[in-house]
Amino acid sequence: MIKLENVSFRYPKSEQKALDNITLELEKGSFHFLCGASGAGKTTLFKMLYLELLPTTGKLNIINNQADNISRKQISELRRHMGIVFQDFRLLNKLTVWENVALPLSILGELSAQQKQAVNDILDWVGLKHKINEHPNKLSGGEKQRVAIARAVVNRPKLLIADEPTGNVDIEMGKRIMHLLCELNKHGTTVLVATHDQELINSFNYPRLKIDDGKLSINNV
Ligand SMILES: Nc1ncnc2c1ncn2[C@@H]1O[C@H](COP(=O)(O)OP(=O)(O)OP(=O)(O)O)[C@@H](O)[C@H]1O
Ligand SMILES: [Mg+2]
Repeated sequence: MIKLENVSFRYPKSEQKALDNITLELEKGSFHFLCGASGAGKTTLFKMLYLELLPTTGKLNIINNQADNISRKQISELRRHMGIVFQDFRLLNKLTVWENVALPLSILGELSAQQKQAVNDILDWVGLKHKINEHPNKLSGGEKQRVAIARAVVNRPKLLIADEPTGNVDIEMGKRIMHLLCELNKHGTTVLVATHDQELINSFNYPRLKIDDGKLSINNV
């Protein structure tokens, strides 16, 4: 599903590598946690998996697409199979909550009755049924996060990557979100979740990846 071979990445004008010689393979249907201190490189790695950044050196393959020489069109096509929850949410304030969540489906054309129902159901699941006509700039941080999660999963993506998806919600909602990700995974979605929440990590028996100063290791402690 994902394969990185000796991937390094350096931001322009930066002295240090943000990702340092990472080799990683995530099998189809797997679930991994990604942990690491602030500034370790988690978001940079996610941006690379979303092909927003490309490796400075090394090889990257996402869902059978080799990242070097990939066209913009291929990137858009590939992203249709990916759900991503950004740390900063990236919601569109011009659109309502409902429209934001429907976006991965409406990009492909008019929504069917079944797709509209899927948008309603997921918004209900994350407890935002009463906010569907609001615009994101009127929501709390936790509410925005839940909209971002709903948008990432509505499409039942092949690959779901979530950057601190429970960072702004209470414990109960955090459990609900994790349950949702586990259910998707049981239905075949490959999942990668970055989190600082050790308690959350300890409540699940999923393998843990650790990133430290841009270097990745498997860490099961
Ligand atoms: N746009 C950028 N330009 C230059 N350097 C950047 C940029 N974004 C991040 N960095 C640097 O890259 C390194 C990794 O940052 P990254 O955002 O990936 O960390 P993180 O693990 O997601 O941290 P956090 O837990 O705080 O979200 C840091 O040293 C950071 O300062
Ligand atoms: Mg980050």
